[in-house]
Amino acid sequence: MTTGRSENFPIGAAVTIEGLEGDPKPILTELRAAEPVSWIPALEAWWVTRRDLAVEAMRDADAFTVDDPRFTTAAVLGPSMLSLEGAEHERHRSPFAPAFRPGILREQFDEFLGEQVAALIDGLGAGTGELRHGLAGPLAVNTITEFLGLEGVTAAEVLDWYQSISRAITNLTLGEPITPGDTAAVATVHERVQQTLDSATSDSLLVSIERTGLLRPEEMSSATVVLMFGAIETAEGMTANVFWHLLTTDGAWATVAADRSLLANAIDESLRFEPAASLIDRYTTRDVELGGVEIPEGELVTISLLGANHDPALFDDPHRYDLTRANARQHVTFVQGPHACLGLHLARMQTAAAVSAMLDAAPNLVLDPDTSSAPAGLIFRKPDRLSVTW
Ligand code: HEM
Repeated sequence: MTTGRSENFPIGAAVTIEGLEGDPKPILTELRAAEPVSWIPALEAWWVTRRDLAVEAMRDADAFTVDDPRFTTAAVLGPSMLSLEGAEHERHRSPFAPAFRPGILREQFDEFLGEQVAALIDGLGAGTGELRHGLAGPLAVNTITEFLGLEGVTAAEVLDWYQSISRAITNLTLGEPITPGDTAAVATVHERVQQTLDSATSDSLLVSIERTGLLRPEEMSSATVVLMFGAIETAEGMTANVFWHLLTTDGAWATVAADRSLLANAIDESLRFEPAASLIDRYTTRDVELGGVEIPEGELVTISLLGANHDPALFDDPHRYDLTRANARQHVTFVQGPHACLGLHLARMQTAAAVSAMLDAAPNLVLDPDTSSAPAGLIFRKPDRLSVTW
């Protein structure tokens, strides 16, 4: 059946995973123009690359769902807001929503983030350093560790768990066995959440959510893992990508150093240009038509956020990083519809704190192109290294 499909979607038939991992913009441009909903045999998935169709699909959870047994994240983490729809999704998500409101986050995190970035920048070295592993990565881990407030748990442990869970999901996706060590990591998170809930003295967010009675302990525990999972690689990539864009676009670093009012838009333009999580997956619940293409029930539909963000129908000259782009904020990097990112304000605060402190510390910062690399990756996209001097 899929061979016949490929005849109808010749551009999709030629797409390779390697092509999407490097710079996928040329391929996505071709797809969007001729096959905005295309069958990609290399990934056994339908790909959506036009912004209007991407929004249509992500808003229609009745037809395009995350609630499917093939969703490997749910198989490892247990049912959570990431893998549920409708009333159950709301029950899992709503207890966490108040803690993510901007006013509450500012009260709780402004000072924390200021101290964190100051310490991390101090640790970079004198006049030379590496910004992804030295600043963006540890900042993401330390922030979510503080947010969750698990009793006696360090950022190093959280990072370890994240790496285990990430490996487990990858192995399951590739049809490979999950190692006992990685299974144990999920069990350890569950234990540590329970210890926090049982503690009489804890002021963790989790304890206050438990008091609402909306979620059972094992559901709280899955949500904790989802928050770690949602917050580490993505926020690290987001911060690293902003540094990349500001340091590789002519004059951009100096311009923002001289006028900080440009920073918020510079961050949104980077989110548009290179979403750190570049795609989302859905499954069709029934035969459905999207952009004139009939997609049968039970199929994997991948929405390319990167593709949608470079749609020339909305963004002029879409492959140009433009600090002052008036509609940069219309990117779909944080998704629309029921699964819109819950952590977007916290993520923005982190990135702004890191970039702002670095602009203060090093208005003359330069990237070493020989030991740095452009953002890359099929799903999560970020530079491998960002070596800088100042
Ligand atoms: C503090 C950092 C972050 C936290 C705590 C966080 C948390 C979450 C949570 C809990 C969800 C699930 C919402 C739901 O299904 O109802 C979510 C969704 C999502 N987040 Fe975030 N997030 C963070 C940062 C980011 C960043 C930096 C990006 C991208 C640049 C991102 C991209 C996404 C995307 C694409 C989804 C939708 C997943 C889907 O619909 O399949 N997140 N986030």
